[in-house]
Amino acid sequence: MEIIIQPTYAKLVAVSAQIIRDALLKKPNLVLGLATGSTPIGLYEALARMHKIDGLDFSKVTTFNLDEYVGIPSSHPYSYHTFMETHFFSAVNISPENCHIPQSIVVGHEEFCEKYEAAIVNAGGIDIQVLGVGKDGHIGFNEPSSSLGSRTRLKTLTQSTLEANAPHFGGTVDAVPKMAITMGVGTIMEAKQCLLLASGESKAEAIAHAVEGSITAEVPASVLQMHPRTIAVIDEGAASQLKRVDYYKQVYANKQKLLSQEH
Ligand code: GLP
Repeated sequence: MEIIIQPTYAKLVAVSAQIIRDALLKKPNLVLGLATGSTPIGLYEALARMHKIDGLDFSKVTTFNLDEYVGIPSSHPYSYHTFMETHFFSAVNISPENCHIPQSIVVGHEEFCEKYEAAIVNAGGIDIQVLGVGKDGHIGFNEPSSSLGSRTRLKTLTQSTLEANAPHFGGTVDAVPKMAITMGVGTIMEAKQCLLLASGESKAEAIAHAVEGSITAEVPASVLQMHPRTIAVIDEGAASQLKRVDYYKQVYANKQKLLSQEH
């Protein structure tokens, strides 16, 4: 895993936006896997600015979101449909028919999940999958103990996730949807590249385990150690429990130096 440690969230955003921008300039019909949560908001804002100011073109881009709650309407203010529309889709020139988000109803979920997987394959697979991480190491809504080979499916959320998301639902855990449809860990692992973002000390333990711990279903993000092309862009807070911070910084500095010599 390539670990890029940045001093601030703003710099984390700048580096991750640059990675997506470069990929999009190389491949205008990029297939992006997208995440929700507070962490990628700055990334979406930066990409929207690049669209507005530099004309970065999303017209041929296809997107697949990781997950969506079930049991609330997709128009709910805290559904992931609303989140994506608010933070990204409405701010760039992406075609609505190219944007895919899991359904928010339980009826027909098995058939839906199969079709979602097929749609990813039909699009040519995900080029870059953006990922956040839960405090317990979950990716998407693949909670601890999720099969590392799992596919898109209905999942029950853990108490820890319900508590983390309660502020979005009036502060009460009871109001948080108990289930979600999420891409599986195996689905995520098929992305050609993963871009894992984490900010703040609350993510430090999850990042330390995901990057330097053993690979285990107890920390689904740890499976990314098996992914051939995962870049983790994290800030100092999220990096604060890593053992090899100096080495990761050295690797990144050397790479930047080489790249600047090439240009
Ligand atoms: C939810 C989402 C995840 C996200 C996580 C962390 O569980 N399903 O995709 O990574 O929250 O969110 P945040 O970035 O707000 O900490």
